[in-house]
Amino acid sequence: LVGAALAAHHLTSDTQYATVAAREFNYVTPENEMKWSYVEPSPNSWDFAAADQIVAFASKHNMKVKGHTLVWHSQLPKWMEELTGAEAVRAALERHVRTVAGHYKGKVYAWDVVNEAFSDDSKPVLRNSVFQKHLGEEFIAQSFRWAHEADPDALLFYNDYSIEYPGAKLDAVYSLVSRLKAAGVPIHGVGFQSHVNAADAPTNAQFAGVIKRFTDLGLLVNISEIDVSIGSKVSGDLPTRVTLQRNTYRSLVAACVANPKCHSVTVWGVPDKYSWLNMPEFWTWAGQGPHYPLLFDDSYGKKPAYDGVLDAFCGR
Ligand code: G3I
Repeated sequence: LVGAALAAHHLTSDTQYATVAAREFNYVTPENEMKWSYVEPSPNSWDFAAADQIVAFASKHNMKVKGHTLVWHSQLPKWMEELTGAEAVRAALERHVRTVAGHYKGKVYAWDVVNEAFSDDSKPVLRNSVFQKHLGEEFIAQSFRWAHEADPDALLFYNDYSIEYPGAKLDAVYSLVSRLKAAGVPIHGVGFQSHVNAADAPTNAQFAGVIKRFTDLGLLVNISEIDVSIGSKVSGDLPTRVTLQRNTYRSLVAACVANPKCHSVTVWGVPDKYSWLNMPEFWTWAGQGPHYPLLFDDSYGKKPAYDGVLDAFCGR
């Protein structure tokens, strides 16, 4: 499957966006619209309109849908962030997971059930989210169980970033999912977000090795949110950086294509102009923009990065 993150408001306002998305991709992730603050803005009050719009678009164009995301510390409504007491947090979490997964039962191929649970410290720990604070690590296993009960056919993933290369965060995630598997928790795979910059992206061999560790556990994997920045952290003139970007896309996607258990590659947006990396609030992550991180330029022309992805799929 070859996917893209899509935004409902662009589908409505930009016909070229919709045309290119339908032509180029067969897998869709709503970039924001299924997140907690969008679907449950106040307790037990639901708004699926924008997410439903994306699911309808996908269905019309024979594209599968990856739900994103049931449990994440970010983009939570204030009322949820401020909830206290294990019982109240557990009840709200269970209601949320069951209701959202239930609403999309039979309509999503896979879910990012738990997103970015680990911190970025040199010794990663589970983030001090409202879930972790009140329920401890058990919130993760429970969320997978509730999601599975609500939609037994959906593939259920743990999703995270900065785990595409060897390191402490990768080891922490590996240890977590090993424990979940051993405990019989219904987890089917791990998503590698792959937000990288072209100057220091993992090598093909590094990423292939990482993928293999997880597929050897009997899990599926996917590239869930790839974009390759060529912003201020990448040196050289623009043509040099554009070529480096093409090679980075090819190298990472090739690592997925080479492993039969790596079942999808999703790009985090369609044209550069709509990328999240254009929001300066995120520039500490990848250096200063412009980042030109995606496969299509602002007029929907195919960039060299697009050819890099194509090369990877064609084994070139
Ligand atoms: O919708 C409002 C709009 O009404 C308002 O005028 C505008 C003003 O800033 O903000 C808009 O909301 C923004 C929203 O994106 C939609 O564009 C939020 O401020 C902004 O914070 C939000 O950013 C999203 C980010 O997650 C939140 O952390 C990005 O679009 C989205 O691409 C990004 O996606 C995440 C994945 O879910 C998880 N992995 C990392 C990835 C990149 O950060």
